[in-house]
Amino acid sequence: MQVASEIRDSFQIELPVLKLFQAPTIGELAVLVDTAETSSAAAPAGLPIAPAPVSASAPQAIVGDGAGAAAKASYREFYDDVTRRLERSGVGEASFFLNYGYLSLGGIDEARLEVPEGTFNPSSVRLALELIGPTELVGRRVLDVGCGRGGTVSLLADRFEALVTGVDLSPEAVAFCRRVHVGPNVGFEVGDAEHLPFDDATFDAVTNIESSHTYPNLRAFLAEVRRVLKTGGWFLYTDLLPVQRWAEVRALLGPLGLTLASEREITANVLASCDLVASTRAQAFDQPGALIDNFLAVPGSAVYEQMHSGAWEYRIVRAKRERGAGSGGARERGSAGAGERGSGERGARDGGEGSR
Ligand SMILES: C[S@@+](CC[C@H](N)C(=O)[O-])C[C@H]1O[C@@H](n2cnc3c(N)ncnc32)[C@H](O)[C@@H]1O
Repeated sequence: MQVASEIRDSFQIELPVLKLFQAPTIGELAVLVDTAETSSAAAPAGLPIAPAPVSASAPQAIVGDGAGAAAKASYREFYDDVTRRLERSGVGEASFFLNYGYLSLGGIDEARLEVPEGTFNPSSVRLALELIGPTELVGRRVLDVGCGRGGTVSLLADRFEALVTGVDLSPEAVAFCRRVHVGPNVGFEVGDAEHLPFDDATFDAVTNIESSHTYPNLRAFLAEVRRVLKTGGWFLYTDLLPVQRWAEVRALLGPLGLTLASEREITANVLASCDLVASTRAQAFDQPGALIDNFLAVPGSAVYEQMHSGAWEYRIVRAKRERGAGSGGARERGSAGAGERGSGERGARDGGEGSR
């Protein structure tokens, strides 16, 4: 995923992600980039380059057209495929996370809850706990954007007593979540982070774990976060991004009405998790190999090495939605902030809690 976004930034071309994963060596990758550059030069402006085939029955979560929409269709295809592979693997039913995970190195840790003994994917759960840190979420409405296989949604509902909605671009991931995470305080929707299918000022907190690196328009995503957050609500954000992209995030937050409250680099903790678990996780996929190694940041893979070199940093950012500032929020309703208790009411559509 990170390789695809780096190529997008450097060459202004989109490579279908599945195709990218079929090019495990730099030599093969170079051929793909050359081919895409050539077809890009030949393609009329505004037309998607090598768009991924999208099923006619697929929900219309992706708005618009052009290279950004083509990229998102490609990521959706990739993550639908991940769901199918995990289903075939035998361990898929217990696999609720797709993030690289976090290992304590004895320095600053912020998780307030322990990961219970015997938890599957404990380092991934720990990453979510580090992100949440001291944020008070009991009875609050929380949206997890890019929820993947629903692990964070389930964690927030079960251990933080929040009312949680997960949204993801991948219909197959959402179908999995709806089947395995059942309860009155959880719900899942297919949707695009850049066009969230929720009303203004719906949530007390928005979480986003290792998903934003594939969004073609980070600004649109951050503006949407700000729009769906209530005044005083929290944006809890963690991802692996190139250093210059983190600078963009910092520059965007304030003008969009999201005040940076804390920032922590956790690359070393994430690398330690990859050292420990990435190779084992690769075996959960029915066709392990270089493509999956890269996806999981197995030591030696391009993604792992980018992290190791310092070119990409894994960070936790917490920002607060301020009153009035920034764009969006035109239809804003009165609301409790993240420091206050939510009402606990759940609508069938607003926030989607409980809707199946
Ligand atoms: C690496 S996985 C992380 C999943 C989950 N957050 C976790 O920690 O396990 C990235 C997820 O982001 C989703 N995603 C990618 N682009 C998206 C978009 N534009 N809108 C919503 N979800 C998206 C993918 O479908 C995938 O499920």
